[in-house]
Amino acid sequence: MERKSVWNDRDYFERRPPLEGDRTTDVLVIGAGAAGLLTALRLTQSGREVTLVDAGRTCGGATNNTTAKITAQHGLIYTRLKKQFGARAARAYAALNSRAIGEYESLVQSRGIDCGFERLANFVYSLDDERILREETLAAAEAGLDVHFVRETGLPFETVGAVKTENQAQFHPLRFFSAVARDLTIFENTRVTDFREGEACTPGGRIRARQIVFAGHYPFLNRPGYYFMRQHQERSHVLVLEGAQLPDGMFIDEKGGGLSLRRAGRYVLLGGANHRTGEPGGGYEWLAEQAQKYFPNCNIIDKFSNQDCMPIDGLPYIGRYSSRWERVYVATGFQKWGMTTAMAAADILAALIENRPCPEAELFTPARGPSRGVGNLLRDGGKFVKGIAVEHFGGASHTVEDLAPGQARRVKLDGRRLGVYRSETGELFAVETRCPHLGCSLEWNPDERSWDCPCHGSRFDYRGRRLDGPAEQGAAKKDHL
Ligand SMILES: Cc1cc2nc3c(=O)[nH]c(=O)nc-3n(C[C@H](O)[C@H](O)[C@H](O)COP(=O)(O)OP(=O)(O)OC[C@H]3O[C@@H](n4cnc5c(N)ncnc54)[C@H](O)[C@@H]3O)c2cc1C
Ligand code: FES
Repeated sequence: MERKSVWNDRDYFERRPPLEGDRTTDVLVIGAGAAGLLTALRLTQSGREVTLVDAGRTCGGATNNTTAKITAQHGLIYTRLKKQFGARAARAYAALNSRAIGEYESLVQSRGIDCGFERLANFVYSLDDERILREETLAAAEAGLDVHFVRETGLPFETVGAVKTENQAQFHPLRFFSAVARDLTIFENTRVTDFREGEACTPGGRIRARQIVFAGHYPFLNRPGYYFMRQHQERSHVLVLEGAQLPDGMFIDEKGGGLSLRRAGRYVLLGGANHRTGEPGGGYEWLAEQAQKYFPNCNIIDKFSNQDCMPIDGLPYIGRYSSRWERVYVATGFQKWGMTTAMAAADILAALIENRPCPEAELFTPARGPSRGVGNLLRDGGKFVKGIAVEHFGGASHTVEDLAPGQARRVKLDGRRLGVYRSETGELFAVETRCPHLGCSLEWNPDERSWDCPCHGSRFDYRGRRLDGPAEQGAAKKDHL
């Protein structure tokens, strides 16, 4: 399904046909978002024949609804990396992500891409904890970033200061990626339904490939790889404000649910209100309150939301998909920092495929054990057990008579557990609440009128159509109530 965001004021991407018939290629890249496009570009530049396929339109997934800050300062990551993985790992992370910013700039300049690429400082601010900002400043500087603590941010609310990282960047993602996509071989509306070493299946034909890269955001194959046990998804919401003033820079609260701000042309993007997909959000309402408080003269002209994969140990998975497959690769778990991470993934995957040394690859290898994320592994396991239990034993009403327009509820009718939504015009829509991925119970998301899964983040609209994976199909519908 195509999504709407501040970026797609027009269709930036040339339409590509779906695959019809079998095909043989050197490298198959599954997914034409930021990660897939950059990986395909890198491999094409070194002379490989690359085929990209996307289940929908190019950049129709998470990359369509990003805030597109290009920074190596991913929140307070360096303190954590140093503690969890050591100072060497923190340096490798900083080097790879800083290099990514330079690579974006080189592409913009060498290809003359008109995408508003602009170098700016990034500020990670705190409302109440100066100590952690100072600690992060030291850790980030030690990792190699040009960073310092500042007391003043220029934001229209009080902070105790910020970690300011110089020379980061922002851009218009769709203008940039449409220029990248232009010369690549892409088949749109071509969903890969299965793949293994050397071969992938799509409804239009089989693709034989020496190497396969899965860049489809959340791996839909449960085995091998078991990515569903190693990451969940988190949603964030963004308001587009007109008439709001913001000082130079990009800003983000060190606290997960706090505000993220950047300018986008004459607008300000006000993001935040993160929550695990499938859990209560109320994101737009809270953001609108913040907009009114801090930018009282602005108009909210649009809104969008999006989700990303959150790995259990806080590091993306980039490398071989599974130790069982020698020539299949993956890039996932970007934890809402997919702009630099996608470029880093392209660097790492191209090096692995071309058998070149890549010292940073070891840090991101999906073959690492869960030892540094055991707490999150257990928490996610607990969510899964709860999601299954709710589906089998959770409370459900037996009637929809009193359901008001715009509301939804879980009901049990004719032995089936259904999620029923009554539209503003009074029409009833019913879908099974059993998630087609692994059977957890779907939860109603009133902000976006969708049924969302708290286990791994699949989402469906109220008609049951799939919005986000890992589920591959829509939710089962019941036509007559
Ligand atoms: C609100 C929000 C704000 C963000 N802001 C920033 C930011 O400021 N800076 C930053 O660095 N990051 C940001 N991110 C994160 C960033 O947007 C993502 O990490 C990034 O866009 C992910 O890119 P991707 O290529 O992995 O996924 P996608 O863009 O989702 O691309 C995957 C593609 O694969 C396709 N696909 C999936 N399954 C299949 C299949 N079976 N067969 C064929 N195709 C398939 C999909 O259709 C899709 O087009 C933000 C995220 C959120 C949620
Ligand atoms: S997304 Fe995995 S069970 Fe729903």
